Amino acid sequence: MQSGLKNSKYVPQIVSRQLFALDPTQRAWIEVSGKSIEYNVRAIKSLLTNGCQFMAVVKADGYGHEAKFVSQHAIKGGADKLGVATLQEGLYLRSEGIKEPILVLGNIYRREDLLICFQNNLMPTISDIKQCIVCNEIGEKYKQLFYIHLKIDTGMSRLGFEVKNFVQYFENIIALENIKIDGIYSHLSTADALDASHENSYANIQRRTFLEVLANISIKKYPDIKIHLANSAGTLIGKEFHFDMVRIGLCMYGYKPSQSQKKLKLKPALTLKSKVSFIRIVDNKVGISYGKKFITNKKTKLAVISIGYADGIYRTLSNKISLIHNSKMYPQIGAITMDQLMIDITDANDINVGDTVILLGFDKGKCISPIDWADAASTIPWEILCAFKNRLPRVQI
Ligand SMILES: Cc1ncc(COP(=O)(O)O)c(C=O)c1O
Repeated sequence: MQSGLKNSKYVPQIVSRQLFALDPTQRAWIEVSGKSIEYNVRAIKSLLTNGCQFMAVVKADGYGHEAKFVSQHAIKGGADKLGVATLQEGLYLRSEGIKEPILVLGNIYRREDLLICFQNNLMPTISDIKQCIVCNEIGEKYKQLFYIHLKIDTGMSRLGFEVKNFVQYFENIIALENIKIDGIYSHLSTADALDASHENSYANIQRRTFLEVLANISIKKYPDIKIHLANSAGTLIGKEFHFDMVRIGLCMYGYKPSQSQKKLKLKPALTLKSKVSFIRIVDNKVGISYGKKFITNKKTKLAVISIGYADGIYRTLSNKISLIHNSKMYPQIGAITMDQLMIDITDANDINVGDTVILLGFDKGKCISPIDWADAASTIPWEILCAFKNRLPRVQI
C-alpha cells in the first residue's frame, strides 16, 4: 500500500472517487425500469375497486431491484403504503426520505426495537398480546398513538394470533388507549395453486376463516381498520380477496405468480446484463469448466461471460439456461463458476469481446424470465430475484 493510503482520513475519499469513475456496465449489472414499476402498479390497481389500497412490498431490497428506487416509482404509480420485512429495511427507507406509511411484515418482539419502530413512524406487525401491551406502554410514555397492524394466522402457520385467541383478546386490545389498530391482516399460503379460485380451495378456506374471525369481533363497528389478506396471487384470484388493501410484490416487478389472469399484461422491471470478456475456440471432446460437466461434441467457439454464482446466478442452472445476444439465444455450457460462465457461440460471427449479453430480459421478441430460471432450478421466481448480490450494480433507467 502507498504511504498516503495508510492515512484513514484519505482512504474513503480515494476509494469513493475511484468507484464513481467506474462504469457500472463494464462487467455485469442489473437495469431496473422505474416506468415498468409504475405501469405494473397501475395495471394491478385497475383490477381493484375504488378505495381499495395498494401496499407495495419492497422487502429484500425491493426483491433485488433496490428498495428506494422501487418505492419511489411504486408511489408514483399510485401505491398507498409500503411493506418491508425488517426494521432495518424500514429505517433505510425513512433515512432516504420516504414519507409514506410503512408496515414491517416480520415479527418485532423486543421492546427496544418496537420503540425504534415507533420513533421512526414504522408500523409493526403484532401477533401476540404481550407486544400489544408493550406498544401501548410506549404510546403512553410518549403521549402519542402507536400505529400497529394485528395479524391472524388463518392457515399459513407462520406469524399471527391463533384464531381462537384473537377473538378472545380483541376486546382487551381495542380497549388499549395508546395504540391505534391501523390494520388487521392474514396471509395466504396457497394462493398460486391451480385450483385457488375453486370454492373449496385452501385459499378460500383461509378467506372464510378470516371472514369468520372478523364477524366474531364485529369488525363493522371499526370502519377505519384496514382489512387485508391478498398477496399478488391472492389479488389475481378475484375481488373477494381484496378487502381494503392488497399487498403486492411479485406482480409489481412484472411477473405473474400463476397462469391466472391471462389478460393482465405486466412489464418485467429488471434486465440482467453482462459482457463478453474473452472468446476462444476449443477442440471436439474437450471438457468445459470445473468437473468437466460439459464435453464438446464438435470444435466449439466459446464466449466467456463475466458473471457467476457470486453475483447470484445459481450454480444449479449450469447447462440449463441460454443468453441473448443481438436477439439470438446461445446455450450456457459447463459449470457456472464463481465469477464467470461460458456460452457456446459456434454459430455466431457477430460476437466480439466487450459485447453485451442479456441473461434475463427481452431483446426483440426473445425473452428470458426469472420464471424460466426458477423452473430450471426447481425453485420459485421470488428466490431467483432475491439471490442477486450487491456486487451487481443496479442501474436505474
Ligand atoms: C406478508 C406478505 N404479504 C405480501 C407479500 C407479497 O407477496 P407476493 O410477492 O407474492 O405478491 C409477502 C411476500 O412474501 C408477504 O410475506
